[in-house]
Amino acid sequence: MNRILKTCLTALLASGVALPALAQDISIKFSHVVAPDTPKGKAAAKFKELAEQYTEGKVAVEVYPNSQLYKDKEELEALQLGSVQMLAPSLAKFGPLGIGDFEVFDLPFLFDGYDQLRQVTDGEIGQQMLGRLEEKGIKGLAFWDNGFKIMSANSPLQSPDDFLGLKMRIQSSKILEAQMEALGALPQVMAFSEVYQGLQTGVVDGTENPPSNMYTQKMHEVQKHATLSDHGYLGYALIVNKEFWDGLPDDVRGQLDRAVAEATEYGNGIAKEENDKALQAMRDAGTTEFHELTEEERAAWKEKLVPVHEEMAERFGAELLASIKATLAQ
Ligand code: LMR
Repeated sequence: MNRILKTCLTALLASGVALPALAQDISIKFSHVVAPDTPKGKAAAKFKELAEQYTEGKVAVEVYPNSQLYKDKEELEALQLGSVQMLAPSLAKFGPLGIGDFEVFDLPFLFDGYDQLRQVTDGEIGQQMLGRLEEKGIKGLAFWDNGFKIMSANSPLQSPDDFLGLKMRIQSSKILEAQMEALGALPQVMAFSEVYQGLQTGVVDGTENPPSNMYTQKMHEVQKHATLSDHGYLGYALIVNKEFWDGLPDDVRGQLDRAVAEATEYGNGIAKEENDKALQAMRDAGTTEFHELTEEERAAWKEKLVPVHEEMAERFGAELLASIKATLAQ
């Protein structure tokens, strides 16, 4: 670098002016809390592969799974501070940011399968939700699936009464709190990385998660019963630090957008199968008894849980819920 350019750069840096990222040596730290062998873990690995390929090595992506870098509560803060550039927190974990919209996805018995869900995430409503993150210095890039949750404990969970007095671990969502309370359980917020130990030591009695999370965290080893209730959805928003993203050279951002789109299609394409495989692996392990809900039992769960939709509407706005229901009814 010639001397004049070097002096100018030094002066600029000293004055605190943010320089656009140079089209080389860009590093993206992508932190998440689940195992690599899950829908999110695999989508993150796919993003890394494609991002490095499409940018011809200008961008290096380092994926840190299993809460290696940050736990639930810390990761959003780390993103806003720029300590990591990319995350995919579950939609249930955005409440502390002051954006309640995403918590609508936690409502029990709102979506009947992935297709219905896609109508919301791929449509205008989903895009508006991602857009709202910008006021928090975050850019929302995509929705990533995990799947539909099952309930587990050391006692059978077939009728709503079976939940009475059980300490149930939840993610940090007011909707999930209301859901467990509606069943007469005692909700306990706990970081994902601590759930296995919490269940093992009896700090909590049970929990809910899609099979892929339950299996890869070995929760089935410490839960004797699980009910295939599919009562709620767990998915993610793929997000980046907005200043970082906007500061990328246009060509690099375009290549990364392509990697995001393809990793999203890949991850959402394998999510159901990953959960089916995890459920089968847990059945094979034989440590947990899996229950199906009869029609009457499902109706009894719904009777307790559907009122949570109205009861909690102030968290995300009755209008948002109405427009989601209208979209699903089409
Ligand atoms: C949980 O905390 O149960 C999940 O959000 C973990 C995850 O990211 O799937």
